[in-house]
Amino acid sequence: MLSRLETLYTDFKNQLNKLNKTNDVLNLKSQILGKTGTLSEILKSLKDATPEERKVLGSKSNQYKNEIEELVQKKLAEIELAEINSTLENSKVDFSLTDSVLEQGLKSSGLHPVSLIQREIEDIFLSMGFEVLDGPHIEDEFHNFEALNIPSDHPARDMQDTFWFQDMKHLLRTHTSTIQVRGMSQRKPPFQFVGPGKVFRNERTDATHEMCFHQLEGMMVGKNITVANLIYFMKTLLKEIFKKDFEIRLRPGFFPFVEPGFELDIRWKKPGKGESPHGGWLELLPCGMVHPNVLKMSGIDPNEYNGFAFGLGLDRLVMVRYGIEDLRHFHSGDLKFVSQFKSF
Ligand code: PHE
Repeated sequence: MLSRLETLYTDFKNQLNKLNKTNDVLNLKSQILGKTGTLSEILKSLKDATPEERKVLGSKSNQYKNEIEELVQKKLAEIELAEINSTLENSKVDFSLTDSVLEQGLKSSGLHPVSLIQREIEDIFLSMGFEVLDGPHIEDEFHNFEALNIPSDHPARDMQDTFWFQDMKHLLRTHTSTIQVRGMSQRKPPFQFVGPGKVFRNERTDATHEMCFHQLEGMMVGKNITVANLIYFMKTLLKEIFKKDFEIRLRPGFFPFVEPGFELDIRWKKPGKGESPHGGWLELLPCGMVHPNVLKMSGIDPNEYNGFAFGLGLDRLVMVRYGIEDLRHFHSGDLKFVSQFKSF
C-alpha cells in the first residue's frame, strides 16, 4: 500500500510538470484528491488495514495530500504569472525601460523651467537676507481670505474662483499669500521672507490659464519701510532674472491686503514681434504696502511697523523669459520640452 502511495505521488509530480493550463491542473487535482480520486480510494481502504499500518499509512497519505495541494497552488500561480507576462508582451504598450529610453531620459531631462526659475529667485532673495518659507496646499478660509482682509461677503472673493472642499471651510489655496499670513504670525518684525508654491483656481485651461499654477510671494516688514524699498527690491529681482535693466512703471491695483496697491509693469518687446499692444508695457507683478488690518490680524502693531508685499506669477515669468507662447506645455510631461531650459 505504501508503494502505491509513493507511485501515486511521483506520477502526480510528473504529470503536473507537463501541464500549463489552469483547467488541466484542477482536473488532475480532482483525479487524486476528489471524492472518488485515487488518494481518497487509498484512504478508504485503510479501514481494512491493521492499526500499525493505518498509523503509518494515515500520516503518510496526509503528508502527500498536503504536498499535492501545495504543488497545485504553486503551479496555478506560475500559470497565472505566465499569462500576465504573455499579455504584456503582446500588448502594444511598451512597459520596459530600455537602455535607449533611460539614456535619452538621463541625458535630456533637466529641471522643469518653473522649478528652475523658482530656485533662482529663492537664491536671489536668500542672498538679500530673505528667508524661504513653505505652506500647505490645503488651507482654511482664515488663512486664504479673512486674515488678508477679505471677509466672506467681500466681492474680492470672486476674483479667485476657488476649489472648496465639501465642508465649505477648507479649500485649495488660491494664492501663496497664505504663506505670508503664517509667516507673519510666527515672527516678530523686522523680518523678510518669500514663499513659493503651487496655487489652484477653477480656471478653464487655455494658452495662458491653468487650474494649477505657481506663485512666489514675498514681504518685508519693519520700521519706516517705503514704496522706494519695494521698487528697489523688485528692480533688483528683475535684473537678476533677466540679466538686464528694465524700465518699470507702477499703476494703481486693487488687492484688499495692500494699501496702496500697485500693478508693476515692465517695458517689454515680444521677441521678433515688436511692441506689445499696450504701448509696450507688460503687467508682471502685483504689489503694495501691507494693509494695517492685515498686520493687526497677525499680531503686529501697525502704528509701529509697516511693510511691503508682492506676488510673482512664476509661470508668466517663465513664458516671458523663454518666449513660450502656450502654458499648456508646462504640464505636458514632454521630456523634449523640459530639456530645453538652462539657467540664464
Ligand atoms: N495674492 C495676490 C494674487 O494672487 C497677488 C498679490 C500679492 C498682490 C501681494 C499684492 C501683493 O492675486
